[in-house]
Amino acid sequence: MKSIKNIFFILVAVVVLHSCSPAGGNSAGHEYMPDMAHQVAYEANTYYTYSHNSWDEESTISRRDLSQPRLPVNGTVPRGYAGLFFAGDGAADQEKALLHGGNQINAIAVPVNGYVPFYYANNEDERTRASNDIQANPFPITQKGLEQGKLLYDINCGICHGEKGDGAGYLVRDPNPAAGDPGGVYPAAPANFLLDTFLNSSNGRYYYAIMYGKNVMGGYADKLSYEERWEVIHYIRALQAAEKKLVYSPDANTFNPVYGTPAKQMERLAAAAPVTDAAPPAGPAANHGQGGNH
Ligand code: HEC
Repeated sequence: MKSIKNIFFILVAVVVLHSCSPAGGNSAGHEYMPDMAHQVAYEANTYYTYSHNSWDEESTISRRDLSQPRLPVNGTVPRGYAGLFFAGDGAADQEKALLHGGNQINAIAVPVNGYVPFYYANNEDERTRASNDIQANPFPITQKGLEQGKLLYDINCGICHGEKGDGAGYLVRDPNPAAGDPGGVYPAAPANFLLDTFLNSSNGRYYYAIMYGKNVMGGYADKLSYEERWEVIHYIRALQAAEKKLVYSPDANTFNPVYGTPAKQMERLAAAAPVTDAAPPAGPAANHGQGGNH
């Protein structure tokens, strides 16, 4: 009687164990309480869990990839980066070296990518706020920058705002068939940058207009980089200064000192406080400038 009972138990055990068959082919397989034995959710940075699962080789590899750290989404903006370059040739590299921390032990190995956060929403109140907040151009007035600014301005803005900034770009001005100029195809009047109101407007008004556009003018945030936007604004300032017979150049700014700092002046400042990535001097002075990211 006892042996019949044993045989019965052995039979049950064989059936139960046999039902825990491995996955393969067209069979999903069986497992006793599978979810409790295997982590189903993806575990970030943990491959270990998956190396013991019963999925086939292919899915194991892709799941392994899934558990790896991912690159940031395209266009991700590291906080507070860029805006630190100053003065012409060489100085930008020095600034980068400073940002990287030179060879200090607490050096940050992050590339400076030129992105900068913009904390203003797209509405008229925010346009006013940005116009009031944003005053200085973070880049000095350099020859290279003005040339680049002209190129970008003529391509992106001049077609509407005019090569001289007078709001009479070829898309809007009157047709002139004699000169082969079709003219007048754009329905709205672009801003005339040579009007007093624009001469007196802060850099922020321009920067904001580039970021979001205004009414029928679209934004240029995706077409111009941070530095390019500011070079375009420098160039618009140079056009305005020329109209008023004033100087806005790498050597001098008699137009409005708030709008831009000539590279020459910056070089003097840089010479007074040289930035170096050589071995830092001992003592607290070694961190000079590290926290001053404004
Ligand atoms: C397709 C034509 C067009 C192009 C290209 C264009 N704009 Fe405009 N822009 C306009 C029009 C139209 C307005 C007037 C919008 C309004 O006031 O309703 C305007 C307005 C402006 C203003 C004034 C915004 C304000 O606060 O009143 C600025 C500054 C400006 N544009 C800068 C630029 C710059 C810089 C570029 C090039 C990067 C550019 N625009 C390219 C059509 C254009």
